[in-house]
Amino acid sequence: MEDEKKIPSVMLTGDRPTGKLHIGHYVGSLRERVALQNEGAFDEMYIMIADTQALTDNAGNIQKVRDNVIEVALDYLAAGIDPTKVTLFVQSRVPELFELTCYFMDLVTYSRLVRNPTVKSELAVREFGESIPVGFLTYPISQAADILAFGATVIPAGEDQAPMIEQAAEIAHKFNVTYKEVFPEPKILLPKNAVCRRLPGTDGKLKMSKSVGNCIYLSDDAKTVEKKVMSMFTDPTHLRPEDPGHTEGNPVFQYLEAFGCDEHFQKYDTGFASLTEMEEKYRAGGLGDVAVKKFLAFVLNDTLEPMRIKRRDYESRIADVYAILEEGSRKAEEKARSIALRARRAMGIDYFENKKFIEKQQKAFKRAHEQADAYAAYLAKQGK
Ligand code: TRP
Repeated sequence: MEDEKKIPSVMLTGDRPTGKLHIGHYVGSLRERVALQNEGAFDEMYIMIADTQALTDNAGNIQKVRDNVIEVALDYLAAGIDPTKVTLFVQSRVPELFELTCYFMDLVTYSRLVRNPTVKSELAVREFGESIPVGFLTYPISQAADILAFGATVIPAGEDQAPMIEQAAEIAHKFNVTYKEVFPEPKILLPKNAVCRRLPGTDGKLKMSKSVGNCIYLSDDAKTVEKKVMSMFTDPTHLRPEDPGHTEGNPVFQYLEAFGCDEHFQKYDTGFASLTEMEEKYRAGGLGDVAVKKFLAFVLNDTLEPMRIKRRDYESRIADVYAILEEGSRKAEEKARSIALRARRAMGIDYFENKKFIEKQQKAFKRAHEQADAYAAYLAKQGK
């Protein structure tokens, strides 16, 4: 019956609670999630705070993970995620995810795990040496469970997550051919604009990273944003305003592009009508970094200000935010429970839910008893 229902379109994504979210998270995925939510593009939308995954390399640092659950939740809500439209939940509160992880572990080889490019590059920076936690190595399997437990097909995430989603699709396929068709194969949804896929740090380095200290956080106040922008790395060959400059690979211009600043050109008097015009002038010479940076700080603060106001409101009622997460986790568990049951059915380990199987086994025992009884009667008739 349940199988005959129309398959719902489901979006799922999430973040590890290891720090506040920054503008790279925003243009890379969060902004898109809010847009999809407002378009009503999906039947169901789930956003997960992946605390269990964060623990895979923070077992000795529980406090960091615990304290950042609320920070990430506040960032989501401030950015415009509406908990009446999106199920916001905490990974550790949905036990079915770990049940599915165990079943999936039997479908993945060790060599496939260590070949996962994301795991490989993360191992390289973490310096575990010989002491790699098993949970860390296997987190792609757990992430597959996160996705498949909801029947999700669309995963808005950063480019670094692509190998994870690919492996989740592989696991779905392996399960479906080994047992029965249960899981759709998920696909990543990347930002259309390449610059949004990997926003560089304020120092021009390839990625924003908390440990490097090159991030602008969604929750930074206006002064902090301005300070960070004014000290940003730009074109090192552009020494004086008169010099011709490079816009390509210049993080100040990359941020302007990523934030889509056309409307801001009308709000702020730069003397240019569009980013293209501004870039042309910079390349030709005669436009100083300070002027461009001032505009960028304006654009960022104009975008972040409504989030700061929303965040402050939620910060004044933290219990409500936890109630949102609790209710979301309850709803998420309900959904995951129904899909986990379908998985157990497909595998044939639905012992208590499968009345037909119980009846069949009962019949087999009954037949065996009848045969044994008949044989005993035959022996008795023969006189022992
Ligand atoms: N790996 C993601 C990150 O590092 C977090 C995450 C966990 C996730 N489970 C997921 C993302 C499922 C998308 C889908 O931020």
